[in-house]
Amino acid sequence: MKLIIAGSTGFVATEIIRQAISNPAVTSIIALSRRETTPPPNAGADASKLKSVVCNDFSNYSEDVKKELAGADACIWTIAVGISKVKTMPFEEVRKICLDYTVTGLETICPLGSKPFRFLYISGSNTTRDQTKKPLFMPDYSLVRGEVENRVLAYAKESNGAVVSCLAKPGLIKRPGQTAISGGIFPAIARAVLGVPSVELIHISATLIDQAVNGIEKDALLCDDMTRIGSKAFANLKPSS
Ligand SMILES: NC(=O)c1ccc[n+]([C@@H]2O[C@H](COP(=O)([O-])OP(=O)(O)OC[C@H]3O[C@@H](n4cnc5c(N)ncnc54)[C@H](OP(=O)(O)O)[C@@H]3O)[C@@H](O)[C@H]2O)c1
Repeated sequence: MKLIIAGSTGFVATEIIRQAISNPAVTSIIALSRRETTPPPNAGADASKLKSVVCNDFSNYSEDVKKELAGADACIWTIAVGISKVKTMPFEEVRKICLDYTVTGLETICPLGSKPFRFLYISGSNTTRDQTKKPLFMPDYSLVRGEVENRVLAYAKESNGAVVSCLAKPGLIKRPGQTAISGGIFPAIARAVLGVPSVELIHISATLIDQAVNGIEKDALLCDDMTRIGSKAFANLKPSS
């Protein structure tokens, strides 16, 4: 299968790429980003199936970029402003990157792909879909991320089966070997006080690839789902050669 990974230079995408390279069911990986994507250092010999595609404008894809995206079977969308970076830019910019880029990505990429096309979107556990609510924690951000979820779900519903979507809803994503303390003060507080659920990086990555390849179990996956699906899928992965 041909798999698009959007936001391919990011933290989660790098692990998805590393695992997708080792997965024989994935025959072609399009790494879509605003800058060049290099194969992870430990990627092994199969890294030749990775192609870096640079998109200069996520509001308006060039014909060259569209050609590279055509004929894919699935897309894992990771482009967003993470919670820790929200305060580093004007909120209109956060909204554009999180919402507008995702909707344009859906509308551009899905029609170019096979049917049914699988669109997997990494969201978060702190999202508010009901746009009339005023959540207590980071309200504007929570509402925008909830609006993206609404748009992804609606797009798939209105496609009459041409597009199947999946929302991955992690709380904290833990690096290999990360403990409550090594993750930093915010993750430690979040886990201890706010009860934010967590999932291992290897498990969310393995889950998304599994769902892209084998089909989507349900339209929203929580941390427990991803630990269950991802630990099984990761155990079946052949080591990189
Ligand atoms: N990391 C976590 O613990 C965590 C927890 C819960 C949910 N999530 C969610 O998981 C998803 C992926 O997270 P991550 O940690 O992998 O994020 P990340 O490392 O910040 O990667 C984000 C990707 O989006 C791209 N991007 C950001 N701004 C862009 C822009 N203006 N134009 C084009 N591309 C842009 C980045 O490109 P550059 O590399 O060029 O900046 C990168 O490829 C996000 O939706 C995040 O909210 C993450």
